[in-house]
Amino acid sequence: MSRRPSSSSPTSSPRLAKRPRLEYEPLTPDDYKNGVMLAPMVRSGSLPTRLYALKHGASLVWSPEVVDKAILHSERVVDPVTGVVSYNGKSKAIFTTHPIEKPYLIYQIGSSDPETAIQAAKIVMQDVAGFDLNCGCPKPFSTHAGMGAALLTNPDLLCAILTALRQAMPPEISISAKIRLLPTQEDTLKLVERIVNTGVSALTVHCRTRNMRQKEKAVIGRLREIVEFVEGMGRGIAVIENGDCEGYEHSHKIREMTGAHSTMIATAAEANPTCFSPAPLVDLENTFIPSYMRLARYLGNHWSNTKFCTTQFKGIHVAGSRAGLKTFRETIVHAKSYEDMDPHIAPWTGEEVFAQIVRALEKRSGRRHLQALPEVVLDAQQEEAKENASARNVLEQTIEKTPLVGEVDPTILRAPLWPANELRIPLPAFVTGEDVPTPSPTPAPTAPRNSILFLASAT
Ligand SMILES: Cc1cc2nc3c(=O)[nH]c(=O)nc-3n(C[C@H](O)[C@H](O)[C@H](O)COP(=O)(O)O)c2cc1C
Repeated sequence: MSRRPSSSSPTSSPRLAKRPRLEYEPLTPDDYKNGVMLAPMVRSGSLPTRLYALKHGASLVWSPEVVDKAILHSERVVDPVTGVVSYNGKSKAIFTTHPIEKPYLIYQIGSSDPETAIQAAKIVMQDVAGFDLNCGCPKPFSTHAGMGAALLTNPDLLCAILTALRQAMPPEISISAKIRLLPTQEDTLKLVERIVNTGVSALTVHCRTRNMRQKEKAVIGRLREIVEFVEGMGRGIAVIENGDCEGYEHSHKIREMTGAHSTMIATAAEANPTCFSPAPLVDLENTFIPSYMRLARYLGNHWSNTKFCTTQFKGIHVAGSRAGLKTFRETIVHAKSYEDMDPHIAPWTGEEVFAQIVRALEKRSGRRHLQALPEVVLDAQQEEAKENASARNVLEQTIEKTPLVGEVDPTILRAPLWPANELRIPLPAFVTGEDVPTPSPTPAPTAPRNSILFLASAT
C-alpha cells in the first residue's frame, strides 16, 4: 500500500510541503444522507483512489476493511514531505491515509470482539471521522473468525461491538455498520432494529444475502421496507443502499426506487473512481491514469497496489486508437516499478496533482451536504484535463516505440504490502477496452458551500 517510512519519497525535496490543517464539524446522521459513497474495498480502495473519488464527487469514503488485531501493534508514521500517515506493521503498511481526507473518511473495522474493536479504534481515531463495522464479508477467512457476515447470525455480538464502539468513542466520531440482507425480510428487520438501537449514525445495506454471488443482481426491491422501518424508529438514521449502483445519475434512480438516503458504490468505482461525478471521465488512459499514477507515486503508494488498481480501471472509449490504448495497458502490465512508466507518465508532477485535489476539496460544500457541487467537480475535471494533455502527447509519441517484452509481472498477484485479509484474488486484467456503462451528465441537487477551512501551516 504505502512505502515503508525509511524509503524516500520519489519526488521528495528538502523543503517541507505546506500541509493543510482542517477544521470541521463532526459527522452527524445527516452527513450520511443525500450522498454517493465510496464503498470499502480491500486493495482497490487505497488512498489515491479515495482521494480521486472525493475529488470527483464522492460524499464520504470508506477505507478497506482492516481486521482489528492487525492494527494493534502498528507504528504510526507521518511522512514529513507529503503528510501521508501510515500505520506500519512489521513488513507492510496496514493502513495509509492523509489528513485532507479525514473529514470524509470512514474506517472499516473487521472484528468479532468488542474489546479488541475498541483498542483498534483508539489507535486510528485521530485520523478518521467515523468507524464502520463490517458485518457482510462472506469469505471464510472472515467468517471463520466470527467476523463479517458471521455477525449477521450472531446479533448479540454484532450489537455488542457497535455498542462498545459507540460508548468508547467520543461523540465526534460516528459509528455505522454495513450488513447484507438476511434470507427473510422479517429477520432482516429484527436485526436492523437492534442495530439502530445501538446508536449508529448510519446503516449500509448491501442488497445481497450472504450466499449470493457478486454477479447476481442485487435485490434492491427489499430495501424500501427497511428504509421505512428505520424512518419509523424516528432516530433520523441514514440508510445507505449498496449493490449495483453505477454512478451519480444511477444513484438518484436507486434512491427514488428504494427511498434510501444515499447509495454506496464498489465495483463501478473500482473500474472508474470518477463515476461519482455527473460527468465521469472517459478515455481513462489519457484523462485519468497518468494523473492517478503521478499522485500515487507522490503519496508513496506501493507500485504493486498502483499497478493493481490501474489494471482494474475501465472506461468508455470515445477517442484514441484501440491499438494505442492496448499498448499503454500492456506497458502497465509489464512494468515492475514507477520508473518503467516513465515514457508514458513523466514528468512526475504528483505534487501538483495533489494540490489540485486539495483545491477541489477546499471548494466543496459543508458538513451537512458533503456531496461536492457539480460545478466544483467539473472544474476539477477541467484542471485534470490540462494536467493530462502533456501526458497524452507523450503517450502518442511513445506508443509505437514501446516494446512488448517479458511475462506478466507476478507481483500483481501478490500485492505484498496489503493486509492479509483480502477479499478477492485479484485478476490481472489485461484491459482490452471493454466498456463500463457510465451515467450521462445530469444536473445535481444544490447544496450549501463552505465550512471546511484548509489552513495552510508549515509543519
Ligand atoms: C475489490 C473489492 C473489495 C471489497 N472489500 C470490501 C471490504 O473491505 N469491506 C466490505 O464491507 N465490503 C467489501 N467489498 C464489498 C463492497 O463494499 C460492496 O458491498 C459490494 O461489492 C457490492 O457493491 P457493488 O455492487 O457496488 O460492487 C469489496 C468489493 C470489492 C469489489
